[in-house]
Order: sequence, then C-alpha cells, then structure tokens
Amino acid sequence: MDQAVAAVIEEYEVRARREQELSATLSADEAMRRRDEMLLPVGHAAGTLINLLIKEAGARRILEVGSSYGYSTTWLAEAAAAVDGRVVSLELQRAKTEYATQQLARAGLAGRVEFQVGDALASLASLEGPFDFVLIDLWKDLYVPVFDLLHPKLAQGAIVVADNMLQPASARAHAKAYRQRVLTAADMTSVLLDVGNGLEVSRFR
Ligand SMILES: C[S@@+](CC[C@H](N)C(=O)[O-])C[C@H]1O[C@@H](n2cnc3c(N)ncnc32)[C@H](O)[C@@H]1O
Repeated sequence: MDQAVAAVIEEYEVRARREQELSATLSADEAMRRRDEMLLPVGHAAGTLINLLIKEAGARRILEVGSSYGYSTTWLAEAAAAVDGRVVSLELQRAKTEYATQQLARAGLAGRVEFQVGDALASLASLEGPFDFVLIDLWKDLYVPVFDLLHPKLAQGAIVVADNMLQPASARAHAKAYRQRVLTAADMTSVLLDVGNGLEVSRFR
C-alpha cells in the first residue's frame, strides 16, 4: 500500500484506540450522547477485507452508506484507485465529510470519492446505480430500509457488506432483522463472517 495511504489509516487507528479508551469510561447514555464525536470505524480487519473484495471482484462502482470521518472510505478509495473505480459515500453530518475530505486529500485519494451529505434514504432514492460494491454502516435501525432502496440498484454479481452484525450487543436486534431481510431475498446469497464487528457479506445474482 502507498505510504501516504498507510499513514492516514494508521492515524485514524491511533485516534480510534484513544476513543475506545474514552468510551470505556462513559455510561451508555453519555456514549450515545457523544457518538458523533467518535469515528466508530469498521476496524482494520474489516477494512482489509472490503479492500480485498473490491480488488478481487474488480468492483468499480462503489457505494458507502455511513462515511463517518472517512476511515472505511479510505479503504474503499484505495481499492477504487486500484481498479480505476469511484466511491459515492453518504453521510448525514457535513463536519464529518469535511474531515474525511481532508484525510483523503492527504492520502492522495480525494479524486476517487464523492460525498453526498444528507439523509442516506433520500440520497439513495435519487442515486441511479448500478453499484458493484456496497458497504452499509450507518445507524442500525436503517439497514433494512437502506437495503430495500439499494436492492433494485445492484449490478449483476454485486457484493453488499453490512457491518455490526455481531457487535455491539445493542445492535443485535437490528442486525438480526437485516440478516433475515437479506436471507429471504431469493436473488441474494449471504454469509456471516466473524471479522471485526461481524460482517454480513451478500452477493446479488
Ligand atoms: C458507524 S458510523 C460509520 C463508520 C464508518 N463506516 C467507518 O468505518 O469509519 C455511522 C455513520 O452513519 C451516519 N448516519 C446515521 N444515520 C444516517 C442517515 N440517515 N443518513 C446518512 N448517514 C447517516 C452517522 O452520522 C455516522 O457517521
């Protein structure tokens, strides 16, 4: 991996470790109140896997739903550069995408990503697709409606990865609803991987 990209990823991971230590000292209510200060990243193993899946599949039309401060976006953009692809990344909070834009510029990847700020459900309704690869990682109650909106926009062979299928425990009910939705779609094959926070990896056929 390019040194500039590796340095940016390492910087995010240092920040994430600091935030994890801080979170461990907060009550559940306080952690929820302060969640927009935190990266809440997919983590190194999941980042590596999504990067690898895109490169192996040659997936060029990439969608991210929930950019946060751009950690996972950096992994997606690095893979996009390798396959001459592009990432559209959806995020509610403008300040987070401003930070992410600066980080991607430092990594030399800014040209690979277009951020769309606003409610992902509204953005998704107007995005045309098709998409070859999708990462779903926004607030967990929105996974099913997000899947329903993007399902008709998947390209043949598209891969959809959803984070937080196993952790945190507070997301389990929404994770279960998402897995049920994907597993009952006749045109999806799907597997749960114990990687990072738990990833559901699904393929559209
Ligand atoms: C878990 S974080 C994403 C972490 C990121 N994927 C990473 O690995 O660095 C979830 C993000 O989804 C965003 N989000 C929540 N609801 C949203 C919505 N309706 N539309 C767009 N973004 C939303 C939150 O602002 C938050 O930044």
